[in-house]
Amino acid sequence: MRVAVLNGVNLDALHRRDPQIYGGLGLAELESRIYEWSKELECTTRCRQTNHEGQFVDWCHDALDWADGVIVNPGAWSHYSYAIRDAIDLFTAPVVEVHLSNIEEREEWRRHSVIADLAAKRILGKGPEGYKEALEWLAQQ
Ligand code: DQA
Repeated sequence: MRVAVLNGVNLDALHRRDPQIYGGLGLAELESRIYEWSKELECTTRCRQTNHEGQFVDWCHDALDWADGVIVNPGAWSHYSYAIRDAIDLFTAPVVEVHLSNIEEREEWRRHSVIADLAAKRILGKGPEGYKEALEWLAQQ
């Protein structure tokens, strides 16, 4: 199973964000855990992060050609970016939407995700372990 993990805007600054909400872990540590879990599950995983919407869209297009499963956390774009929604809509491979925090229990504007109905599975509020659960779920497909 080849898995694309696409993290979006502000996830590079994870270590600086409210530790009560995001746990204090940095992106590098998160990605290294994702690679370890992938190894255990015999997944070939490529993690990417960008703060640029067009780049995120380009990486979705790139993953169309090779990924058997996709894990996305578009950050705040999840709440309003129809460009990212349209890019995610192109996948025929299963897409898992992951959010470190439980967006459904936070501010009103975070509760809606424009990609929710495209996701084969959604994992909210489980911190880094959410990515592990996403990998495990994809590995079973
Ligand atoms: C997030 C939740 C979003 O609302 C927020 O804008 C983020 C991170 C999460 O992983 O909990 O940047 O996607």
